[in-house]
Amino acid sequence: MRKKFVAGNWKMNKTFYEAKAFVSFFRPLVKKINDVDIVIAPPFTLMNMMYEACRGSNIKLAVQNLHFEKQGAYTGEISSLMAKEFADYAIIGHSERRHYFGETDKLINKKIISALDAGLSVIFCVGETQDQRDAKNTKKIISEQISEGLDSVKNLKNIILAYEPVWAIGTGKSATPEQAEEVHLFIRDTISKAYSETESKKLRIIYGGSVTPENACTLLRMPNIDGCLPGGASLYPDKLAKIIASF
Ligand code: PGA
Repeated sequence: MRKKFVAGNWKMNKTFYEAKAFVSFFRPLVKKINDVDIVIAPPFTLMNMMYEACRGSNIKLAVQNLHFEKQGAYTGEISSLMAKEFADYAIIGHSERRHYFGETDKLINKKIISALDAGLSVIFCVGETQDQRDAKNTKKIISEQISEGLDSVKNLKNIILAYEPVWAIGTGKSATPEQAEEVHLFIRDTISKAYSETESKKLRIIYGGSVTPENACTLLRMPNIDGCLPGGASLYPDKLAKIIASF
């Protein structure tokens, strides 16, 4: 039985006081939930405060990015070891990192290895663009992203795979439950072939791309969708709590 998983990706949003207000409203809303892993990915500037504000609760933290080196002259970056002081998870390979910041599968692979070595769990994002979908290349793209991103990763115990079709992110145009389920099933088959059936059955595969309290129910009802990664909706405590309550 795969435990359900919901991670809210705040992206580049919220000041200190906005985040504080969020937690004081959100924490009581989810305090009785113990069958879903609840994660929030704030910007780096809020990690320390969020760590204190979520201490003793069922809310865990993720970083939205990290550098693969342990330390050094990398202005503006943070390492996996720094992230691990506050977070249990790292989002790696998000399409905004791939497209706005030119992150390649090779770089993403280095980041995944670094995060795992530091003891972080990884929310590894894959997904196709609209053009790739139109050209019927979805499966090809996703299997390349998976095989390169997970190159030399032996064990998937600390990996959560996020299917995030680029055309659905921040567009208000979510994948239909059937479209998402088809790709999730494909990802599970791919993992089964590359690793084993046992690993693939244990792997949590979550969906991201315009998830809202309104569409979460139907998406999360699909057999291979084990959770979600909402962006915009996760900025509102009531919306995020409703999504979590949709299982
Ligand atoms: P969105 O973002 O929910 O705002 O579409 C999802 C994501 O980027 O993870």
